[in-house]
Amino acid sequence: MKQIKIGLLGFGTVGTGVSKLIEQQNEELQQRLQAELVIEKVLVRDASKKRDCSLAQEVFTTDVNEVISHPEIDIVVEVMGGVEHTKEYVKQALKHHKHVVTANKDMLSLHLKELSEIAEQNKVGLLFEASVGGAIPVIHSMTSTMSGDKITEIMGIMNGTTNYMLTKMTEEGLGFDEVLKEAQELGYAEADPTSDVDGLDAGRKIAVLASLGFHTEVTFDQVYIQGIRNISPKDIEYAKQWGYRIKLVGIAKDNNGVEVRVHPMMLKEKNLLSQVNDSFNAICLKGAGFGDSLLYGRGAGELPTGSAVLGDVMEIADSIVRNSPMKSLVSLYRDEKIVAMDAIVSKAFLRLQKSDDCKDWSKLEAVCKESGVSVLKQLEEKDEWVLAVESKEKDRNHALEVLKQQKLIAGCNSMIRMEGE
Ligand SMILES: NC(=O)c1ccc[n+]([C@@H]2O[C@H](COP(=O)([O-])OP(=O)(O)OC[C@H]3O[C@@H](n4cnc5c(N)ncnc54)[C@H](OP(=O)(O)O)[C@@H]3O)[C@@H](O)[C@H]2O)c1
Repeated sequence: MKQIKIGLLGFGTVGTGVSKLIEQQNEELQQRLQAELVIEKVLVRDASKKRDCSLAQEVFTTDVNEVISHPEIDIVVEVMGGVEHTKEYVKQALKHHKHVVTANKDMLSLHLKELSEIAEQNKVGLLFEASVGGAIPVIHSMTSTMSGDKITEIMGIMNGTTNYMLTKMTEEGLGFDEVLKEAQELGYAEADPTSDVDGLDAGRKIAVLASLGFHTEVTFDQVYIQGIRNISPKDIEYAKQWGYRIKLVGIAKDNNGVEVRVHPMMLKEKNLLSQVNDSFNAICLKGAGFGDSLLYGRGAGELPTGSAVLGDVMEIADSIVRNSPMKSLVSLYRDEKIVAMDAIVSKAFLRLQKSDDCKDWSKLEAVCKESGVSVLKQLEEKDEWVLAVESKEKDRNHALEVLKQQKLIAGCNSMIRMEGE
């Protein structure tokens, strides 16, 4: 039987998952493909380390060239992480006419265009289903099933760690620090949680989805990002009382250019994304023809992510068996501008610290009105004004500055955008 040879770059969580799935389903996969998948070489940092697998020790190497320029390897699976040096390895693999499967959103959110062009020039495939949403088939849905339609909006919960934390805060009334500690103890959050809690991980994913959805290059540095560090139990409580849930969402929208952002958002309880709890992810797509579509599932983990990587491997292997060329997933033929955050109209929940000098709401109301900020709801608490407002981002920021300068408030304790822009 024909053998299709795979070279892995990395054998950590995802690499181990891929290897386990190939081993467990070997016979089934052979029947489906009429070929056998064989892991030929694996790049790691420490080749002598004992690994949880049945691969022979000599399969492991610390020399990347033994993988990316191996004459018999057909598919290079990049699951090592990192950006610049990894990009060089992927480029070299493509130039050696290897098909590449990667789960690396950090690299793709900066270099998707360049890498997909190199793949095309070398007539090989570059697939990356696992890079966004783990096991959720969002990339294939967007680039295949929905490819005849015009996508107008992408909105999703794309980070399991923060969703787990916000769920705990909502259900148990715990504070951010307490929940983070618990998430770290359970292995949901890294020792350095920055990438998750500050929204960077979700920012990388929405950059990749925005590029695919709007056919224009969107890179990580163009995404507006705000994380969840400032969300307090008080915010969660108000959200509940007002019929909302707070979620960290990634949004990309067609709006005379592309809006692309990650921030906490108060979503109506009945919004399907409000029902996505714990470490689950979900992505809601809007299309001119198909309407709304919600994809839900596990966004990370050894087997879920391994399964998405293996799906890409199977697609490439099938094209090799049938001797048919791989089609590029990426067509970045437009050159859209990124809409400045200042110009976006949004609703927001505000908790404003009262100043000692002003207890008179009408003075605050006048500043809001002059700045073009509509007040939709207003509550007076002992120490705070609690509001829901609607305006351009720029006008809301201006109003807050004026209120502080005129000492009408002592500060802004919380600003969370609300559904319904
Ligand atoms: N974990 C998930 O659930 C998940 C989900 C979606 C996407 N991803 C993406 O998948 C990729 C891999 O994630 P992971 O969680 O599997 O990572 P990981 O557990 O940290 O594993 C990384 C692997 O790469 C090897 N490696 C790292 N740098 C290397 C270098 N410079 N030279 C040689 N080998 C190197 C390591 O070797 P040693 O074993 O010798 O240390 C290890 O085997 C990342 O891009 C990540 O963003 C992960």
